[in-house]
Amino acid sequence: MMQVLLFFLSHFLVLFGQVISTDTVFNDDVLGLIVFKAALQDPNGKLTSWNEDDNNPCNWVGVKCDPSTNRVNALVLDGFSLSGHIDRGLLRLQNLQILSLARNNFTGSINPDLTSLGNLQVLDFSENNLYGPIPNGFFQQCWSLRSVSFANNNLSGKVPESLSSCTSLETLNFSSNQLHGELPSGIWYLKGLQSFDFSSNLLEGEIPEGIQNLYDLKELRLGKNRLSGRLPEDIGGCLLLKFIDFSNNFLSGKIPESMQRLTSCTSLSLQGNSFTDHIPNWIGELKSLEILDLSNNRFSGWIPKSIGNVDSLSVLNLSRNEITGNIPDSMINCNKLLVLDISHNHMAGILPSWIFKMGLQSISLSENNLRKSIPVSYHGLQILDLSSNAFSGKIPFSIGGLSSLQVLNLSTNNISGTIPVSIGELKSLYILDLSGNKLNGSIPNEIEGAVSLSELRLQKNLLSGRIPRQIEKCSSLTSLNLSHNKLIGSIPAPIANLTNLQYLDLSWNELSGSLPKELTNLSQISSFNVSHNHLQGELPVGGFFDTISPSSISGNPLLCGSVFNHSCTIDHQKPIVLNPNSSYSNSGASSQNRHHKIILSISALIAIGAAVFIAIGVVVVTVLNIHVRSSTSHSPAQFALSGGGDEDYSGSPAKDPNYGKLVMFSGHAEFADGANNLLNKDSEIGRGGFGVVYCTVLRDGRSVAIKKLTISGLIKSQEDFEKEVKILGEIKHQNLVALEGYYWTSSLQLLIYEYLSRGSLHKLLHDENSKKVVLSWQQRFKIILGMARGLTYLHKLNMIHYNLKSNNVLIDCSYEPRIGDFGLVRLLPMLDHYVLSSKIQSALGYMAPEFACRTVRITEKCDVYGFGVLVLEVVTGRKPVEYMEDDVVVLCDMVRGALEGDKLEQCVDERLFGNFAAEEAVPLLKLGLVCASQVPSNRPDMAEVVNILEMIQCPSEGQEEIQISS
Ligand SMILES: *[C@@H]1O[C@H](CO)[C@@H](O)[C@H](O)[C@H]1NC(C)=O
Ligand SMILES: *[C@@H]1O[C@H](CO)[C@@H](O)[C@H](O)[C@H]1NC(C)=O
Ligand SMILES: *[C@@H]1O[C@H](CO)[C@@H](O)[C@H](O)[C@H]1NC(C)=O
Ligand SMILES: *[C@@H]1O[C@H](CO)[C@@H](O)[C@H](O)[C@H]1NC(C)=O
Repeated sequence: MMQVLLFFLSHFLVLFGQVISTDTVFNDDVLGLIVFKAALQDPNGKLTSWNEDDNNPCNWVGVKCDPSTNRVNALVLDGFSLSGHIDRGLLRLQNLQILSLARNNFTGSINPDLTSLGNLQVLDFSENNLYGPIPNGFFQQCWSLRSVSFANNNLSGKVPESLSSCTSLETLNFSSNQLHGELPSGIWYLKGLQSFDFSSNLLEGEIPEGIQNLYDLKELRLGKNRLSGRLPEDIGGCLLLKFIDFSNNFLSGKIPESMQRLTSCTSLSLQGNSFTDHIPNWIGELKSLEILDLSNNRFSGWIPKSIGNVDSLSVLNLSRNEITGNIPDSMINCNKLLVLDISHNHMAGILPSWIFKMGLQSISLSENNLRKSIPVSYHGLQILDLSSNAFSGKIPFSIGGLSSLQVLNLSTNNISGTIPVSIGELKSLYILDLSGNKLNGSIPNEIEGAVSLSELRLQKNLLSGRIPRQIEKCSSLTSLNLSHNKLIGSIPAPIANLTNLQYLDLSWNELSGSLPKELTNLSQISSFNVSHNHLQGELPVGGFFDTISPSSISGNPLLCGSVFNHSCTIDHQKPIVLNPNSSYSNSGASSQNRHHKIILSISALIAIGAAVFIAIGVVVVTVLNIHVRSSTSHSPAQFALSGGGDEDYSGSPAKDPNYGKLVMFSGHAEFADGANNLLNKDSEIGRGGFGVVYCTVLRDGRSVAIKKLTISGLIKSQEDFEKEVKILGEIKHQNLVALEGYYWTSSLQLLIYEYLSRGSLHKLLHDENSKKVVLSWQQRFKIILGMARGLTYLHKLNMIHYNLKSNNVLIDCSYEPRIGDFGLVRLLPMLDHYVLSSKIQSALGYMAPEFACRTVRITEKCDVYGFGVLVLEVVTGRKPVEYMEDDVVVLCDMVRGALEGDKLEQCVDERLFGNFAAEEAVPLLKLGLVCASQVPSNRPDMAEVVNILEMIQCPSEGQEEIQISS
């Protein structure tokens, strides 16, 4: 009913409004307001006091009247959440002076008749959703208008020329619309203008001249348009200008000289244009300047010294220009300066230390060529960005004193040393970026103190050690990048407590172990990368892992799961129960003493030490072997095994560059037969962690053993490969297998060794077929001593074998042992527990316990362990681990048990039928046990072992018996 009445009234009024006079029952103002209200939505009921039965609107919310006439002169409905169209009902309010509908949701276009309200002084429609063009005649009757704002609407079209006739205008705000075209040429006729804001539109063309007429102009905002050309030369005439914003246009040329007169100016923003030339020296005249932003232009030359005269300056942004030279010392006088940004310029020289004594909050000097070390600094600093310079030296410990620091960016410099533990003192630190430096050492556990950290970037350094689990305390972390370092150990499960984490990059490290299941809790993760580590085991199921891209986990050959097309089925071996409470012998044997003393001390040690054997290797090695076998079967060199194809390994490199390169260290040689006979099953003589070994004959009649490497994927570049192989070729010792040459193609690498016809020690001891030829006691002793000498030689060269086993010990025609397969580790790009245990230490029973314990460093003592097992193997003729029906016999345990029962002699190989020297055999077994001590430091070193062996050996008898046996 009400709506119908209002609808009728509204039309009636518009059509016949002039006929109705004040003596009618309806007051014009009431009618106008009621009609206006009827056309809009008032979701918050702000206008309920507007009641058409009330003849006096002067008490209505948002309405004010002139007390003398009782007519409405102000309507202020700012922020009432009103929406709908601005109805013509308002035209009834003939005495209206102030109409303010800011911060509502009015839509539709601007009513062209509004300015017919001849008394209107203030019109504020800012922050609504008005659209369409400003009607051309809108400003035709605007003589009383003092302030107009249509800011923050969606008005389009051009600025009407008629605007220039509103000569009473003091403030004009059309910012944040879609106005385009040029500014009206008569715009500067508006001499009374104090504030002019057309920022954030699409205005184009040049700024008209004549602005100097605007004596009262205090605020000039034309930022974010498409204005071009130069700044008006006469702008310096507007002497009262305080705020000048021409930012983000296409303006160019020099800063007009007249501007030096603008001594009231507090803020000058010219950023994001194409201004050129030097920063004028007269800038020092602008003594009121608080904000000077000239960033993102093409200013060149030096920063003028006069900048020091602008002592009110608080923000100076000169970033992204072509400024050269030093930071002028005069700047120390700008003692109110808080923010200094000179980043992305061509500044050079040494960063002056006074910069850190000025009380600055933010220093950004990134992307320059500043050098010298990072200075020690003071408390108020919040932002320090020195990234992409040439800073060197260390991060000072005193950095922890910067208690207000929020952003610390030292990335891409030459900073070395460690991350100071004081970093944990920075409680407000929000971004820490130390990436792209040469930092070493580990990430300090104290990082947990930096509780506000949101972004931690340490990538591309030389950081080692483990990822501290304490990092979980930085619970605000959203971004964590530790990639391209040398971090080891496993990924700590507590990382999963960083539930805000969106970005996690741990790629290109040396992380091992399995991926913690808990990581699936990271529900915010949008980027996850652990590629190129040594992670192993099953990929967790659930969470983001279900949609993980293969590239973010690639380069971890031992990870398994459906994503990798190889499942994680493991052939579980019966684990051997360990006794963690056992004690170990606690001192090494010294060789310099006399014979008996040594033997005694060794026996004593052994008697004290209890038997503990860690055979985690049983399971680990089985898994790894499965892997090695499966990777062998898809290795790129597989076609070579089949012998077919077009590859001819006998081809000489000179004939065809596509063929590989065969290099023999002594003399020239070629493979006698073509590829067909080279690497086929029939000539296979052994297999190891590094590859398959074949026997072949060279054209000159020499027999050689060829090892086809199955680690192609891991191998270094050709250059590194050749360098390492040549080093290996120079190692000559009568107890080491000589490397005679190599063959290289990118997919196939062969190592060519001397061929030893008797085969391996393993074969001589354990092969059913060769059991008829039982090694004599003297031969066995000779083999043990020879192995010890070979190893001593290797250790003197600082080379660790890592893979001692009877398969790798070859026996020559005079029963001299020769250790093979040494040094191959050097062909791999990285060396750590993973590589050691998976690729090299593949032999069960020879693996020193420290391989299973990631916290212990692997030293040459791991070879001593393997040697100890070999000694026991040679003396007893038994394998290091033997599987019985129902039981696993570990050789060391067995011998230790015999020692405790004083039955060592019974351990000696039965096949000798008692034909051995007990006074040698018993100490030999004891020596074997000492060498196979659990704790590396309890093992003697190989030089000591050689001395002990020489003392154990009974010289005269030995000589005779060797003769007898041969
Ligand atoms: C403005 O109106 C639009 C459409 O009617 C609506 O979606 C929006 O929420 C309103 N905004 C406010 C601040 O009331
Ligand atoms: C223009 O209006 C916008 C929106 O209300 C406001 O943010 C801006 O400060 C005004 N401009 C001037 C110069 O007052
Ligand atoms: C502004 O108007 C343009 C058309 O003139 C329209 O495409 C755009 O969506 C509008 N923007 C808003 C925020 O209403
Ligand atoms: C996460 O934090 C809680 C509480 O401190 C702790 O109990 C839990 O073990 C943590 N989770 C991980 C994976 O460490």
